Amino acid sequence: MKRIIIQYGGTGDLALKKLYPAYQNLMEKQYSFSVLALGRRYTTREEFLLNSVSPSAPASFTDNLDYLYYDMADTDAVSILTKKLRSMIEGSDEVEFIYYLALQPSLYEDAIHQIKAIDASLDCLCTLTKKIVVEKPFGFDLESALRYNEILEKAFTDKEIFRVDHYLGKEFMQNLLLMRFHNDIIRRIWDNRTIESIQIIFDETHGVDQRLGFYEKIGVVRDTIQNHIMQIVTYLTMSEPASLSPEDISVEKEKVLRSISPVREFHMGRYESLGVNSGHVVQTPTYAALKLFVNTYYFADIPIYVRTGKMQKEAKSLIYIKFKNTTKEVMHDQSIAENGVIITIHPELTIDISMNLKMPNTSWKSKPVRFRFNQSETFGANTPEAYEQIVQKILIADKSLFPTMKEITESWRIVEPMLESDLVGEVYPIRTLPRFASQLAKDNHFTWFDETQIAKP
Ligand SMILES: NC(=O)c1ccc[n+]([C@@H]2O[C@H](COP(=O)([O-])OP(=O)(O)OC[C@H]3O[C@@H](n4cnc5c(N)ncnc54)[C@H](OP(=O)(O)O)[C@@H]3O)[C@@H](O)[C@H]2O)c1
Repeated sequence: MKRIIIQYGGTGDLALKKLYPAYQNLMEKQYSFSVLALGRRYTTREEFLLNSVSPSAPASFTDNLDYLYYDMADTDAVSILTKKLRSMIEGSDEVEFIYYLALQPSLYEDAIHQIKAIDASLDCLCTLTKKIVVEKPFGFDLESALRYNEILEKAFTDKEIFRVDHYLGKEFMQNLLLMRFHNDIIRRIWDNRTIESIQIIFDETHGVDQRLGFYEKIGVVRDTIQNHIMQIVTYLTMSEPASLSPEDISVEKEKVLRSISPVREFHMGRYESLGVNSGHVVQTPTYAALKLFVNTYYFADIPIYVRTGKMQKEAKSLIYIKFKNTTKEVMHDQSIAENGVIITIHPELTIDISMNLKMPNTSWKSKPVRFRFNQSETFGANTPEAYEQIVQKILIADKSLFPTMKEITESWRIVEPMLESDLVGEVYPIRTLPRFASQLAKDNHFTWFDETQIAKP
């Protein structure tokens, strides 16, 4: 079968940084497909290759990478692309087109209409199958997501549609599910009888400078909260699925999302731009802190605190599960530390469990110690990048790492008050935690997790 990935946004940041390396790795692993990159930045294939692909890239990849100057706004755009595709599939009996939309959400609608027109005018004598891949955020808000979906579903069946949230391709996400559902010891303590609160912290050091125009239309809620954070919440709190099949997992994820009320307690802020856009105050929130609840029988009453955004002092991605500390009262000792599970995603993937154990040379004094799992020490550093896993699943038509439309719809509903808020938010000095994040902690009587709080391993 001749399989072609038609890469919309083929000159963009995502394609260059993530997708092409993933394609290259998969081709080296003998997955058979070619890529047609579409963009306006370069006029010829030579110019595209020179600027977009490392000179050391193997021929197994570059020989299968073609380029077409393609401006979606051109009146003859559809006929140009149709002609190119016809020439690429000439003589093939069996063909699969994978349309990969790595575009701003505002361009999805036009792209889908064009794809429909290409389909109608291709006149292929071969057996033609197709898939479409849509990047996150899917839509701009609930209303546009529903509209895009209606258009999508008129042109493609649900089986053919892959809505990407690349966090689902990350090792730590898959590990979250296995850690919870393959360990009785964890399963028995993973609910509101034991857990006091959950923190999700995703701090980035970089800003939006190179991608200011793009980011200003998106902001932190659309960039991470509606998709990555909501997916993490589902993996942390869903009940055990009947099996690990995509369908059974999504049934449980949807239940979680449906149980979450629209976010009411939130704060947002933005920083003053540096570098090329120095002095410009970013016109969309770049940092947010919020609180939400999963109102299911096992998780109701556990506050989930989230903080995420850009231009922080330290790049830090972690989830902290804090357990209730009844021991303090029972043992009449206020110095007994809390127990917790710390899942660190960045700088490296580790899972720590903190426990109190006796300090030598003391009379019944305990000290928190951590038991650590380190992914790269245990399994080696060679786990595939998220996008490699995502693309591999698309090639083999396995939908286990893709959110369903119901999940996406519910996630938009949950964040809608944040999108509708006319709160432009405080301007925070770069490399500092916005004041509102500390205020959220103060108002809710907790402290954000930091390394000094619980002993290092
Ligand atoms: N960047 C990431 O790390 C990342 C991660 C996860 C998800 N995503 C998602 O992926 C999507 C793309 O992001 P990105 O960062 O790659 O954006 P980007 O760097 O701004 O690239 C946008 C792409 O769209 C093309 N384009 C724009 N207008 C066009 C038109 N009229 N006709 C044809 N092509 C047009 C551009 O082509 P020319 O520049 O050649 O004109 C460029 O290739 C977004 O939905 C984003 O949320 C990105």
